[in-house]
Amino acid sequence: MTFPDDFLWGAATASYQIEGAAGEDGRTPSIWDTFSHTPGRVLNGDTGDVATDHYHRWREDVAAMAELGLKAYRFSVSWSRVLPEGRFNPIGMDFYSRLVDELLERGIAPVVTLYHWDLPQELEDAGGWPLRDTAYRFAEYATRVGQALGDRVHTWTTLNEPWCSAFLGYASGVHAPGRTDPVDALKAAHHLNLAHGLANRALREVVAPSARHSVTLNLHHLRGEPEAVRKVDAVANRIFLGPMLGGGYPADLLADTAALTDWSFVRDGDEKTAAAPLDLLGVNYYSPTRVRRWDGTSPRQTDDGHRDGAASPFVGCDDVEFPSQPGPYTAMGWPIDATGLTEMLLRLHRDHPGVPLVVTENGAAFDDEVDPAGRVRDDRRIAYLRDHIAAVRAAMDAGADVRGYFAWSLLDNFEWAYGYSKRFGLIHVDYPTGRRTWKDSAHWYRDLIAAGGVPA
Ligand code: NOJ
Repeated sequence: MTFPDDFLWGAATASYQIEGAAGEDGRTPSIWDTFSHTPGRVLNGDTGDVATDHYHRWREDVAAMAELGLKAYRFSVSWSRVLPEGRFNPIGMDFYSRLVDELLERGIAPVVTLYHWDLPQELEDAGGWPLRDTAYRFAEYATRVGQALGDRVHTWTTLNEPWCSAFLGYASGVHAPGRTDPVDALKAAHHLNLAHGLANRALREVVAPSARHSVTLNLHHLRGEPEAVRKVDAVANRIFLGPMLGGGYPADLLADTAALTDWSFVRDGDEKTAAAPLDLLGVNYYSPTRVRRWDGTSPRQTDDGHRDGAASPFVGCDDVEFPSQPGPYTAMGWPIDATGLTEMLLRLHRDHPGVPLVVTENGAAFDDEVDPAGRVRDDRRIAYLRDHIAAVRAAMDAGADVRGYFAWSLLDNFEWAYGYSKRFGLIHVDYPTGRRTWKDSAHWYRDLIAAGGVPA
């Protein structure tokens, strides 16, 4: 198993999950600060106030990336750090500027995500993503970041997993801001599509012309009865793939949700704006999803990996249920099945030919512990990564144009509603002290990169 010499081997993180320093150097709260400080929202009352303290330990973390041999590092910018309450904050921006310089000095390509779920709280107070104006505010923010980093950053991603922002944030409410209105979730999805298009254009005006522009989606790899698959595919996948890749909103999505809304929040020209040219499409993959028609009488199965008893994030799919899948499972309870990754990459290759793909996240949480000898034996993570990297190779062998693979995550971090209870890192973090310990998987990944993708 080998990969092209220029294949981008990387690792990924996100601002709120790792930075900490929530109130430092002018940063103001985002929806995740508010949400995590609301009792009952996050397991154990965990917050991102300190997280992995990356804001202070970033040099040490970049040194670890260099030791790993990463070719690229995917991170996100905290909107409320660089534009707290809408005012430009040079100190906040400077943090990212220094980070980019340090990465480049070590030969690691920075891959910047503008939005990984941390909407400034004042924009949520004004209406959040269900409000059209938020999309325009996002484009202004994109311009600011582009102006500051555009001379040095060559890969830009507008949004990370807008499905989660829209449907976990506004329909099931298990993510910030924790609202539960299905129509607001559809409006949020549309304004995220619009925001993506506006920001993509705004960036192209200010960053290096050679830069590559992308978006990262968490496409659901669906299996099961065709009608149930079609419905969930519409509201989880094609709701973004359609507008962003030039096909507009799918007719079946509009029909499935017609009882809820007439979609009059979509204005003339919006779909065209959303279809801004994409140089790369980022795919985050963890596990497949099983669906089937629900008869409405037997107890409904809701094992979709996104809720524990909360409202369904799958708007318009009231006659669909999500039966449990066979193991083995990760600590998230997500089934391990790498074949879904191959199939998803091939589906995108088939449906959207000519759009190069990048696996922008893939990884697994396990209950890792540092043993008395200072070692973290995470064989199951190694097996997970090995199988999924082989699945990427299989998709490439079958014709998919895949340019890179980013492990989620570089470090253990704040896993959203699960707080610090779930560890996805290649590197273990001891939260009370901030101490970093390489897991066996980190050593393994370093060797794989050094060997050009050949696993040990
Ligand atoms: C996707 C998200 O982008 C990331 O923030 C999260 O930690 C991982 N999935 C694992 O759930």
